[in-house]
Formats: sequence, C-alpha cells, structure tokens
Amino acid sequence: MQESNNAKAIEMSNPSKGPSKTAETIAMVRVGESRRPEDERICYDPYAIRFISQNVLEFATCNPEKYRAFLAQSERLVPGVSNSIIARVRYIDDLVNSSLSDGLEQLVILGAGYDTRAYRIEGLKNIKIFEVDQPATQKIKVEKIKEIFKSLPSHVTYVSVDIGIDKLDQRLLENGYDRSLKTLFIMEGLFMYLPAGIVDETLSFITHNSGRNSAIVFDYIPESVVDGTCELEAGKNWRKGLMDVGEPFLFGIKEGEIETFLTQRGFSNVQNVTSKDYKTAYFFGKNEGRVMNSLLSFAYAVVE
Ligand SMILES: C[S@@+](CC[C@H](N)C(=O)[O-])C[C@H]1O[C@@H](n2cnc3c(N)ncnc32)[C@H](O)[C@@H]1O
Repeated sequence: MQESNNAKAIEMSNPSKGPSKTAETIAMVRVGESRRPEDERICYDPYAIRFISQNVLEFATCNPEKYRAFLAQSERLVPGVSNSIIARVRYIDDLVNSSLSDGLEQLVILGAGYDTRAYRIEGLKNIKIFEVDQPATQKIKVEKIKEIFKSLPSHVTYVSVDIGIDKLDQRLLENGYDRSLKTLFIMEGLFMYLPAGIVDETLSFITHNSGRNSAIVFDYIPESVVDGTCELEAGKNWRKGLMDVGEPFLFGIKEGEIETFLTQRGFSNVQNVTSKDYKTAYFFGKNEGRVMNSLLSFAYAVVE
C-alpha cells in the first residue's frame, strides 16, 4: 500500500514524464555564475550553457529586458534562491575534491540532471561514476554529452531510473555498481522531490550497500515549506512556483532535526550547513552583499 502511494506521488510529481524543468533552471543558474569575472564567481561550469534549450536561449538573447525582468521577479518571490544554489554547487564541488584526496573510489549522483562534475572535475576521470535520472531527462543529458565530447566518456555509467517506481538497487547493481567501494552519493536538488518513504528507502540502500567510510551529501528544506505551514512569504512562493511547473516539493525535514534524522537512519559525523554557514564560507569581498535563501540547507554524513 505504502509502495503504491509512493509510486503515485512520483507519477503525480511529473505527470508529463518530460525532461525536468528544474534541472534546466539549475543549469541556467550555473551559466549565470560562470559568466561572472573569474575573481568573483563562486563556482564555474563551462558546460552548463550546452544544456539550455534553444527556445530559452533565444528568448534570453532576443528579449534581454524581458529576461532580466523574469529573473528579477523570481528573485523577488524567493530572495536569494540562486545564490543558495550556487553555494550548493560550490559546497559539493569542494566536497568531491576533498573526498578524492581522501581516497574516494566511486561516485553515485542520484537525480543527476545536467550535473557536469564528471566532466569538469579532473580527479573524477579516474573513478567509476554512476549518473541516475528519469529516462526523459537522462536522454537529453546523454545526447548533449555526445555532442560536447563526440562520444560518451568511459568513466561514466548512465542509469535511467525513476526512483520510487523502478528498483534503484537492482538497476545500480546490474550496471556495475560495486557495493564494497568507498562511495560518495550526491543527491543535489533531489530529496525535496521524493516522497518521504522513498527518501528512507534510498538512504537504507546506501547504508546497506556501500563500502567503509562511504558518505552522502544532499540539500534540504524545512518540512513547513512542503506542507504549506511556513510563514515566510519566500516559503509560500517557492512551494507554489514548483507546483506550477509540475515538480512540487514532497519532502522536508523538521527544523533542528537533521542530526536525529540521519543518525536514526545509520549515519554519523553529520555536518549541517545552514545559509549563514555558506554565506560566511563563500560570499565575502565583492560577494559580501549577496543575499541567501535561509530555507535551503545542506547536509553531509558518513555511513556508520
Ligand atoms: C532540481 S533537479 C537537480 C538536478 C541536478 N542534481 C542539479 O543539481 O543540477 C532534480 C533532478 O532530479 C530528478 N528526479 C526527480 N525525481 C526523480 C525520480 N523519482 N527518479 C530519478 N530522478 C528524479 C529530475 O529529473 C532532475 O534531474
């Protein structure tokens, strides 16, 4: 019964089963940051532009004022959301690099969308990477990667899975995922789109099927944003905006409960990174004045 409810929630969250709009929006945010001067930008993704659809690019190029007005309107509705997404990219990039120095052996990116780490972080070319996403989004990803690099890189395995409907464990294992290796699992901009039961199943798969010192990193929002009780205008607007694009928020974590949530599910060494933390870490000097979205936090934890 619970299983069929989860599957129903997933089906309803993306009824068209078309490519993810949020994946493209996030690539667009990376494009914007990558265009800033080298000494100002918080992260850099030279490939992000290749994942923006022709009609969006044409609109932005042919109607610069309308496009600027659209960005300003998004910023008014959910202040700081782009900056928080940029901080998320940077936090995870830094984490991937430090994990490589600490002997990372395998990387799994769930809900990979148009994530380009596998192609832009040098050390990742020496380890096995699994990119998991729904078929429609992954199809575009694969086409674009072939266009950019002329062929698919041998260190990346693309696994088309609708998490919650298909068997993630089975699909990863049959595609060569090695459960004995030290692995980092990235769930960037993913858990908030999955039902709570599927988040639990995914974390349980990780704790039961990964090598020593494997770890997870993900971002999360407060439960109050998901259930509509958040009193901040930004929370209400954010929730509505995602409903409108057909990718509604389904999962959040009660404020102050991230550590308990993860320790109860078999993780230790929990690091909770709030908007204050990432603002202090990355946004200083010329970036001092940039506003963060206080509703987006990041979490890192190690499998016990
Ligand atoms: C907000 S985007 C984030 C993409 C990418 N991680 C990033 O940060 O650029 C969410 C991604 O999760 C994927 N996704 C959502 N629900 C999923 C599911 N049930 N199974 C697999 N992927 C899913 C979407 O297709 C999309 O690519």
